Order: sequence, then structure tokens, then C-alpha cells
Amino acid sequence: MVNWTYSKAFVLLYFAVMWPNQNVYGITKQDAARLKNIAFTKFNPAYLEKRRFAVSALKNLGMKMGPGSVEEHIREEARQLCLKLSEQGDAHPRDIADSLTVSVSNIVCSMVFGKRYDHDDEKFVELMKIVHKVLSQLEHGSSQLMMVFPFLRFIPGVNSTNRILVECINKVHEFLRQEITKHREILDSENPRDFIDLILTELQTKEKTDCFTEENIVWIIQNMFFAGTETTANTLRWGILYMVLCPEEQQKVQSELDSVLGTDHDVPTLAHRSQLPYTEATIMETQRIRLVAPLNAPHAPNEDTTFRGYDIPAGTQVLTNLWSAHMDPEYWANPEKFDPRRFLDTEGKVVSRPDSYLPFSAGRRVCLGEQLAKMELFLLFSSLLKHFTFKLPEGAAAPSADDCMRVTPPRVNMCITRR
Ligand code: HEM
Repeated sequence: MVNWTYSKAFVLLYFAVMWPNQNVYGITKQDAARLKNIAFTKFNPAYLEKRRFAVSALKNLGMKMGPGSVEEHIREEARQLCLKLSEQGDAHPRDIADSLTVSVSNIVCSMVFGKRYDHDDEKFVELMKIVHKVLSQLEHGSSQLMMVFPFLRFIPGVNSTNRILVECINKVHEFLRQEITKHREILDSENPRDFIDLILTELQTKEKTDCFTEENIVWIIQNMFFAGTETTANTLRWGILYMVLCPEEQQKVQSELDSVLGTDHDVPTLAHRSQLPYTEATIMETQRIRLVAPLNAPHAPNEDTTFRGYDIPAGTQVLTNLWSAHMDPEYWANPEKFDPRRFLDTEGKVVSRPDSYLPFSAGRRVCLGEQLAKMELFLLFSSLLKHFTFKLPEGAAAPSADDCMRVTPPRVNMCITRR
């Protein structure tokens, strides 16, 4: 059994590796979602098949080079985002949360649906509103309480979030079904263009199994969409907020970008990443100090377990406190201070596998979009900092970043000046 003296990070790893089941009692237990998607299903053969498919689909799409590659999709989104911010000008302070969500969602759309949407596209704006609504319901106090005290889902009023969530999810499914129908009409299994084509091809070729049914593919696609949108957008929002709160750090990132990219007006590429350690370390520090899944997704042991003298019956919901690993003073001196240098070694290179650092969790349920997310964070963050300076309006009070368990950063009106 695990020794008491082992570090928190080890304990978290133990949870993630040994207890790969996931349980969400509060929100979705009653609906069948738990059995159909990837993130909130039991660790069983059907789950493994879905996960294997999704990992390999992302890898296939990610390996494309040149036009149509994931890197090119992200860079195109970065260009469109910079264009949008430039068009808006710097006369009025504004919040960039919505623009960031649109850009990040569009990257997922490019991979999943094979197309991006204009920032003003009515249908897309409507979809974004629904995504926001779902996530704000999940962040709502009653959802959090139901997660910890599952019996509350039976209390009328407290459980109204469930009703709203189901309504929103039905609307998202309607949108996805339309996309799937359009894809099916022109599907060429020999040349799959995107995630939907890959999954439809899988559906044709695989014998009918529990995991690749018509209904399941809607849930799997929806899962990629939700898991991949707000996590990345919120991380970027925290990153920009810390640049506003720590202007000296913003300047260091910009100096590094200028010295490597010079006067090139295009957005950076992934090839620049190794030459931009301070920028990379700044993104890592953002993910350390304000990780967007502080209590991770809920897990559960597969079988009755004893852990540190506690008997934990099979299926008990366990929330792993990733935040405590990121704030452990044994590993991180002055953990509340935003300091990217902690991720640089003595030669100024990025530390590749820092201890007590788990923004994407660990073990068999580790985030399957980690590589994609890292590409997005680097390309979007570096593009924004290369082209703009972010600061508070003259005399405005500094917003607080102190609510440590907050997933979503506060909305902040900032001056965005073209460099
Ligand atoms: C900064 C961005 C992101 C962060 C911080 C993040 C973090 C996480 C975390 C903490 C988990 C739970 C792992 C566990 O249960 O132990 C997770 C699961 C997951 N993530 Fe991400 N994620 C990000 C982006 C993405 C993207 C871009 C995608 C895909 C498009 C994605 C897809 C998923 C999926 C499908 C799961 C469920 C995995 C499973 O249960 O097997 N995520 N993510």
C-alpha cells in the first residue's frame, strides 16, 4: 500500500492509474451520456475502443502536413483572431473572452467538421451561446454541490441545472446530427477529411459493437467539442490576464518573440517553439497557477480498495485535487507568485517533465487532447503577444485572480494595442 510519506503528486498519479473509472453522479448519472461518450464512462472494453479510436483519429489528422494540417488550421485561426482584434481597434477597452472561445472552437470544428465558421456566423454564434450556457451551469454552485453530495440531484430546485443542461445538450446534438447527415451524403471512406468522416468510416467497417452506434457517435463528437473548447480558451484567458497583471512578464515574452521572429508579420509556427523557452514557460506557469480542472474529472475505484487506512468501496466517487499538487510549497517556492522562470533550467531551457505538475491529469484517463491543446496554446498565445500589448485602462483597478478554484477567469475589459 502507498506509504504516507509519498508526495501528493505520487498520490494523484496513484488515483489516476489505479482508479481509471469515471463517475459523475451529480449531473449526468441519470441520462445515458455516461455510457455513450468518452470522458464520463466506466473504464471497460467499450470505453477503451472509443478512446483508442479518438486517439488514433487525432493522430491521423495531426500528422497531415502543409495545407489542411492541424498546425495550419490553428495558424489560420490565429491570423483571423489577430485580424478581428485589429479591426476592432484600440479605442475602447474590451474583453477578449468571446473571441478566444470562437477561435478555439473553430479549431475543433476544423478537425471535427472539416470547416471553420466566421466569427459572425449566426448558427455558430448560437452554438457558442449554448456551449457557454452548459459550462456556466456546470460551474454553477448547485452543480458543484451535486458533484460532492450526489443525493442533492433529487431535491427540486437544486437540480434545475440538470434540466437546463439536458435542453442545451439536445440543441447541440441537433446541430451535430445535421453535420453528420451532410458528411454521410458525400462520404468517401478512402479519403476521410475530418473526425466525422473517420468515425463514419469506422461505423461502416466495424462489426456492430456497443461503442460505435449512431447515437454514440453524436456523444463522442460532442465530447471532443466540449472537452476541447473551454479548457483551452480558459487557459488562454488566464494567460492574457496574467500578462495584464504582470506587465514585466508580458514584456519579457514580447522581447523573446521579437528577437526570434523579427519583423515577420505572420503568426509563429511550431518550428519556433524550441527557440521560445520563456514564452513556453509562461504558458506552463499559467497552467500551473490556474489550472482549469482543479479537481480533475471524477474518478472511482474499479473494486473495493483500501488506501491509507481508508476503505473505499468500488464505485465511490473520488475527486483528485490537482490544484494541491500545483500549489505544494515542497515543489513550488512561493506558489501563489506568477513566475515562469520555475519552468526553466539553469541553461534557460524548458524543464520537460516537472514534478508535481498535472494540468492534463495522468494515467490511463489522461487528457487525450493534450498534444493538440499544447499546440493551440503555444500558437495562439505567441501570436497574440507578438501582435498586441494587453493592459488595463488608465486608473482601472486590477482584477482579482485570487479565487484559486475558479475554472473561468473573470471577464476583464482591457486595452488591446497593436504592436
Ligand atoms: C488546455 C486544454 C486542456 C486541458 C487543461 C485539459 C484537461 C483535461 C483533464 C484534466 C481531463 C481529465 C483527465 C482524468 O480524468 O484524469 C481531460 C480529459 C479529456 N480531454 Fe482534455 N484538456 C484540454 C484540452 C482538450 C482538447 C483540445 C481535447 C480534444 C479535442 C480534449 C479532450 C479530452 C477528452 C476526450 C477527455 C476524456 C479522456 C478520457 O476519459 O479517456 N481535451 N482533459
